[in-house]
Amino acid sequence: MPMSTVPAIASPTTVLPSGTLLADTDSITSTSLLCKIGELAARTVGPLPQNDDTIAAATNADLFALPRAIALGTIDDILAPMIGKALRRWALQAAPQLIAKAGRGALVVAAHGPLLPTNVTVAQDGKVSFAAGELPMLPQLRVIHLAQSCAALAASAADPIEAAAAVVAGYTAIAPLAGHELDLFFDTMLAAVAQAALAEGTKASGEALAALSAVHPRWARYRLRAAAGLADAVPGAALLKTALANPDLAVAPLVVGSPATLRPSGKASIHTAVTTVPGATVCAVLGGSVHALGSTADGDVVVMAHAIGDVLDARVAAQAQISTFYTVYSGLDAGAAAGLDVGLALVAGTEIGKAAEAGRVWFQLALDLCGNELGFSEPMAAEAAGVFDALTPNGNILLRMGGENENEASSEASASSASSSRAEEDAMVARREAVLAPNFTLLFDKPLHIVRGEGQYLYAADGTQYLDCVNNVCHVGHCHPRVVAAGAAQMAVLNTNSRYLHSNLINYGEKLLAKFPEELCVVFFVNSGSEANDLALRLARVATGGNASVVMEGAYHGHLSSLIELSPYKFDAPGGVGKPQHVHVAPLPHKYRDPAACDGAAVGAKIVADVKAAGQKINAFYCESIIGCGGQIVLPDGYLAGMYDAIRGAGGVTIADEVQTGFGRVGSHFWAFETQGVVPDIVTIGKPMGNGHPVAGVVTTRAVADAFNNGMDYFNTYGGNPVSMAVGLAVLETIEAEGLQANAVVRGDQLMTGLAALKDKYPMVGDVRGIGLFIGVELVTDRESFEADGEAARKVVEHIRHKWHIFVSPDGPGHNVLKVKPPVCVTEADCERVIAAFDDALAALSQ
Ligand SMILES: Cc1ncc(COP(=O)(O)O)c(C=O)c1O
Repeated sequence: MPMSTVPAIASPTTVLPSGTLLADTDSITSTSLLCKIGELAARTVGPLPQNDDTIAAATNADLFALPRAIALGTIDDILAPMIGKALRRWALQAAPQLIAKAGRGALVVAAHGPLLPTNVTVAQDGKVSFAAGELPMLPQLRVIHLAQSCAALAASAADPIEAAAAVVAGYTAIAPLAGHELDLFFDTMLAAVAQAALAEGTKASGEALAALSAVHPRWARYRLRAAAGLADAVPGAALLKTALANPDLAVAPLVVGSPATLRPSGKASIHTAVTTVPGATVCAVLGGSVHALGSTADGDVVVMAHAIGDVLDARVAAQAQISTFYTVYSGLDAGAAAGLDVGLALVAGTEIGKAAEAGRVWFQLALDLCGNELGFSEPMAAEAAGVFDALTPNGNILLRMGGENENEASSEASASSASSSRAEEDAMVARREAVLAPNFTLLFDKPLHIVRGEGQYLYAADGTQYLDCVNNVCHVGHCHPRVVAAGAAQMAVLNTNSRYLHSNLINYGEKLLAKFPEELCVVFFVNSGSEANDLALRLARVATGGNASVVMEGAYHGHLSSLIELSPYKFDAPGGVGKPQHVHVAPLPHKYRDPAACDGAAVGAKIVADVKAAGQKINAFYCESIIGCGGQIVLPDGYLAGMYDAIRGAGGVTIADEVQTGFGRVGSHFWAFETQGVVPDIVTIGKPMGNGHPVAGVVTTRAVADAFNNGMDYFNTYGGNPVSMAVGLAVLETIEAEGLQANAVVRGDQLMTGLAALKDKYPMVGDVRGIGLFIGVELVTDRESFEADGEAARKVVEHIRHKWHIFVSPDGPGHNVLKVKPPVCVTEADCERVIAAFDDALAALSQ
């Protein structure tokens, strides 16, 4: 059957029981409808008939129809070459590749033919249905089936690729398409549109072909891969971004001899805007060759091409599916373009022009210009923001200029972006729910689609910048270039287990242990905080022979079975099975709620007596050095000293869980246990250790480590691998090089002072506590009863997120303590904003 000559099965005026024919509605181009039609397309295909046509029959384009139409004069001179080109691409390139892969049965389905405006109905409630009528089911490559549907439904849209992207998004939500299918999708759709133009010969079908032929095929490829949710929608983008972020990469300043600042904005854009003085000297930031010259309304434009091999290791470069990337300089004075020649090689730092009269230079970094030889121009299609994010990464990776943010987009674009990204997020929630168990929860009433992190900020798909005060994992800042480069560089050379000699493990082990009191001189490397706490339990059991563990009320130590039993935060919560007999719980030392529980020695003595009375023996006392999930509770002075004496007196070991609090977050010390003047027997560390990379550890004394060496070998496939060690080392170096522990002191004081002042204004603020950048704001119904006000906390979180674009989250047994734990690179301006946001949210709540 020719590709698009499926007979219509109903007249355009027919109203079927399932609704009105799409051809009779005017909503055919709505994104949500096209998305639903994509889902429908995935549902209308079935398993292959047993003994039917061959696969080749599904691709038997009528190659002789075009010369016949030209000879008969039924096709005009403009359309004929377009049709010829589209069909040639299809027949010579796309079809053979598709057929070559079709042997894998999954690529072939049985279909009644494509979905058409004349066989799809829309019900009043928006439900779409397919009226197959008498059409037989035939074998078809699923890409052809879907591309034919897109050709019929999306080709007439103002932006056919955006329309096709909506259909593909819907389809792949039900049935994923492989990367190579998506790569060949555009050519297939173009061939289907060309065949329709040939078969129908109408003005509309000719215009649809002209519009689609004008689309750059690589742009279509990236957009459709993104619509299908492929992580590498723009292949090579992540690798290049990492390579460019490498601090060792030599880059020259954009502007020399004059002041230059980033223009602050915060919205997504494909340009980085720099304000300088008119006439300032603008230089090539990287070496390369002049690729294109021209001018726009903003001034002259110089585009440079750079070989990927110049910034990436040759082996890694070979894996990246790109060979060139581009930097675009615009807003240059007239004459810049005249002074250069295309093809001219320039080293970094060579002058390429002067800033034009407006004193504003635009810089763009692009992996692929997709035919836009002078760079992409704004505004961009809001729905495509995610693709641009990869295709034109933040230019400040190379400019390396301080300042707020680089980007701006028109408010119109961001408004429509908001609604489109909402629809995409809803679809993602549904897909996520389909693949995950229901107890994987999301943050916030309306979950967010975060696509990028940088420093203390996270960026949503719509380009909104959020200050992240929740994530105490990305400690030195999201995607810190030094950490990313260290991990990527090691990943490109070797990653293996720790049973070979490797200097990364030794170097990192030495540097890490140097941060501890000298008694703590042995480290085990593991992969998560939970693994660290589980291993600590094994050490404690072997070292003491004890069978009972002591934990704090409200504590959380990890998700393993052994640790759920040690986590009242879990075993006392919904789904939990209560406290096991071998676990003893110390009350939270909350100075307002339970002053008696603040005396560590007395609490310790009582627990020791309880354990003895139960006929058990203590193996370990686990305690976070500031209680996190229990409600950000700072331990009273002397608390751990008293508890440790009691526990050790009963033969147990002491474990400081520093998974949240370690690595300088508390500012005054590198580890929070040091604020209590004690030295634990075991310390467990995790989260900030790898700044987002999964690496964790257990640090202990030689005595405990020797006791654990009871003949059983210790092996951990990933623990201590060279990549994790390189990452860990880079985190430590960054904390030191950027003075981040000291920053935690200054910014922590600023936040504590500002937030504590709110206690005087709002009675609902029961307490503000913390050390350094580990802070909790406790909301209560009144300060007499100190009853938790979880609902108020929830409202503050949402208010601060929506109005101030700041993330904070509630914790504590009553979900009423707002955690403020930003990356330790947070700035003065950020902290001011946090204080103002709390003030505003509490004021709104008090009305
Ligand atoms: C104090 C504490 N210990 C241990 C863990 C477990 O760490 P992970 O999630 O890396 O297994 C957590 C995680 O939230 C934690 O907060």
